[in-house]
Amino acid sequence: MGKVYIFDHPLIQHKLTIIRDKNTGTKAFRELVDEVATLMMFEITRELPLEEVEVETPVATAKSKVLAGKKLGVIPILRAGLGMVDGIVKLVPAAKIGHVGLYRDPETLKPVEYYIKLPSDINDRELIVTDPMLATGGSAIEAIHALKKRGGKQISLMCLIAAPEGVEAVKEAHPDINIYVAGLDEKLNEKGYIIPGLGDAGDRLFGTK
Ligand code: URA
Repeated sequence: MGKVYIFDHPLIQHKLTIIRDKNTGTKAFRELVDEVATLMMFEITRELPLEEVEVETPVATAKSKVLAGKKLGVIPILRAGLGMVDGIVKLVPAAKIGHVGLYRDPETLKPVEYYIKLPSDINDRELIVTDPMLATGGSAIEAIHALKKRGGKQISLMCLIAAPEGVEAVKEAHPDINIYVAGLDEKLNEKGYIIPGLGDAGDRLFGTK
């Protein structure tokens, strides 16, 4: 059974506040999303398995620990999910990166896959899906579904801000996955924006409107 983790580390909360501020410009916004992704990844990797090795220091042999070779994959949902990738792979440079592109069908309003490119061994990797905003949950649910359909088994979802509606929808559709968020907000408005949120994450990351 998956869990929802809310990262209350003071640095994450401080940076998230600046990210939310409408007066924060594109450059600072992008840098802060990157930093928060790194800090969240630091917390997420806390439980990675270790193994003991011997290493020669300049003066003696030390028994020391290294990561036990768990393979990771980072899967941004296009396009805003891209903003979190660099911050994650800074800590886990061996991670492979896949991409999932979804658009909303104007008739059914459901997300439809238009692009997918994944590491060939996703069944063997722990996959972290990134999307800064978990709003209705539609895109995240579809992206996770796309990974499961292609053999993904260990999947988690990493977002900056989530609405309770999105968390519930993802939990219901994919009860097995962990959800990592920096902020759990109040609600969605009638246009599907998270309140108070931070506005449109893609536009703020890429300077578009
Ligand atoms: N996507 C965003 O970028 N912002 C929201 O508030 C909701 C969805």
